[in-house]
Amino acid sequence: MRVLELKNVTKRYGEFTAVDGVCLEIEKGKVLSLLGPSGCGKTTTLRIIAGFTSPDDGTVEISGENVGHSRPYERNVGLVFQDYALFPHMTAAENVAYGMRHRGTPAAEIPSRVRKMLTLVRMESMELRYPSQLSGGQQQRVALARALATDPQIVLLDEPLSALDAKLRLELRIELKEILRSVGATTIVVTHDQEEALSLGDEVVVMRAGKIIQRGSPTKIYEAPADKFVAEFVGRSNWFQGSPRGESQDGVSTYVTANGIEIRARSPSGRHDGADLCIRPENIELVDGAAGEVPGNRELNVLTGVVLDVAPLGADVHVVVELPGKSRLLAIRKNVGRSQAVAPGQTVRAVFDASDVLVF
Ligand SMILES: Nc1ncnc2c1ncn2[C@@H]1O[C@H](COP(=O)(O)OP(=O)(O)OP(=O)(O)O)[C@@H](O)[C@H]1O
Ligand SMILES: [Mg+2]
Repeated sequence: MRVLELKNVTKRYGEFTAVDGVCLEIEKGKVLSLLGPSGCGKTTTLRIIAGFTSPDDGTVEISGENVGHSRPYERNVGLVFQDYALFPHMTAAENVAYGMRHRGTPAAEIPSRVRKMLTLVRMESMELRYPSQLSGGQQQRVALARALATDPQIVLLDEPLSALDAKLRLELRIELKEILRSVGATTIVVTHDQEEALSLGDEVVVMRAGKIIQRGSPTKIYEAPADKFVAEFVGRSNWFQGSPRGESQDGVSTYVTANGIEIRARSPSGRHDGADLCIRPENIELVDGAAGEVPGNRELNVLTGVVLDVAPLGADVHVVVELPGKSRLLAIRKNVGRSQAVAPGQTVRAVFDASDVLVF
């Protein structure tokens, strides 16, 4: 069942178009991540859905009903704002109860419902505390409980974890995912953190300059980005510009960079003048030394270079390799211990599959 449908929604501020013909629908119980750079129109889109901003064009339907003329409190939408503003003069429990009072929940049911929601977010022991007596993560949980308390048709979360430090952010992300799944909430979660978007969403929508550029599963967005912008925005990547050389054989085309580096790619380019080639760093294998043991295969790229920098980042090691002509390549390998460590100055070959080269 379709819970939300935006049709051609546009919002202009003077000459500037903040949201530009957005079409978006979401099925019941699904979590959609809305991802895009700062200023691309994410918050404006949520505000339009919630009814705080009215669009200049287009319609918003919730459960098949055009809500264009209904006020925010008439829409059953749960919202957690970008800065998770709780009411400072109310306790955690009062904050959670607030929306229910205004949405006609019978007074007798409110206390037990408040307790249930606070238990859901593991805040039941702090129901009498005021926001100033809670940590950022705890406030975030209360804000989530408040948003879920009225059993909303749709939950809108605007950068729900952005105010938290990295460790807490990761913990709460996992918890948030569990909570949303357990209550079956139909959710749009806005973030400009690509890792968060890929891990939280059943589907990811990428926005740029007010427009939706691509929608797809997290895997699809990462492995088959629609264009260079999405590829650059989602995940790390190495970029080369190459001109095609000769005819492609067996579906493999060869490109040559200005520095004379040859790169073979399996995916076809629509362009004949040149192409942007993208290689994900985790698809690059590093092999010791300049020769031997790598098969000369048309499907395989083998580039010889010198290790410039090695950064051990916990589970991963980031290795920067300098190729001929000073171009650089980032390879990410698993940290498997000292035996396979590489060091700056060492000659290595970077090996990657032609099918792992994205061509734009
Ligand atoms: N009330 C307003 N008046 C004029 N311009 C506005 C208004 N609200 C938003 N904008 C502009 O619209 C664009 C989109 O803003 P929006 O808040 O939706 O971005 P965002 O994608 O949420 O960005 P961020 O990731 O930084 O939160 C921005 O360029 C912003 O400056
Ligand atoms: Mg925003």
